[in-house]
Amino acid sequence: MTVADAAQAGRIVVTDADGVRDILFDRPAKKNAFTAALYGDLADAIAGASGDLDIGAVLLRGAGGVFTAGNDIGDFLRSPPTAPDAPVRRFLEALALCDKPLVAAVSGMAVGVGTTMLLHCDMVYAAPDAVFRTPFVDLGLVPEAASSLLLPALVGPARASRMLLLGEAIDAATALDWGLVGAVVPADALEATARAAATALARKPRRAVVETKRLLRHGREAVLDTMEREFVVFAERLRSPEARAAFDAFLKR
Ligand code: COA
Repeated sequence: MTVADAAQAGRIVVTDADGVRDILFDRPAKKNAFTAALYGDLADAIAGASGDLDIGAVLLRGAGGVFTAGNDIGDFLRSPPTAPDAPVRRFLEALALCDKPLVAAVSGMAVGVGTTMLLHCDMVYAAPDAVFRTPFVDLGLVPEAASSLLLPALVGPARASRMLLLGEAIDAATALDWGLVGAVVPADALEATARAAATALARKPRRAVVETKRLLRHGREAVLDTMEREFVVFAERLRSPEARAAFDAFLKR
């Protein structure tokens, strides 16, 4: 693979320090869009942190001033993730089941799964330029990551419809107002703020943190059921003429 090809393919950079697993989405040439390979690496990194008592918190962030543009649209066409063991499914399950606090630092675009993954995070920090968008319907798709359950529960059905049906983009101030993010911090302080929170969590009595997260997530068994239900429809939609036309239109812009 040439250097240019490697940059296009991207990677996930995982660094463990001070009890924090730092996971960087590093595919800036493609706005950190996730391919199947990247989902697989993300799933391994998150599932690996879960159950590892050396890790006290997980930090999720994107390179190049972008969180992520969501699923790679070319991948949707080339290798639609319809198998039960598709890497994206492993990733979403790892997120939902992670026993350690997940801390996200969002700058720039957070599209599709870039927004829905935040519903599984325990703390979300955003830069003022962060934009949250879930254009599933416009792509001929349906919501995933249990967002059809978690988003209306968090922001209310009317606002969830603006995001999930209309595909309305939400800015950082609105996301803060709606409770999708916990704090908006200046761009140059975003990473340090999120890292400080993750480090503080990692320094606390670890088992107490894990048990507290477990209690906070109690009653969320419905999350995995919802993901399963969404996945069945999502897989059907991926093969639909509506979706394929939308993917083609994006790739031919
Ligand atoms: N899948 C594949 N490639 C993507 C991508 C995605 N989800 N998002 C961005 N890219 C690629 C672009 O095709 C472009 O590649 P190129 O330079 O080889 O042409 C590169 O990343 C830069 O993107 P560009 O659109 O030029 O940047 P922008 O700043 O104008 O816009 C976005 C950024 C995120 C608003 C825009 O790229 C976008 O809408 N992406 C699609 C998001 C999406 O629908 N995701 C799926 C949700 S389910």
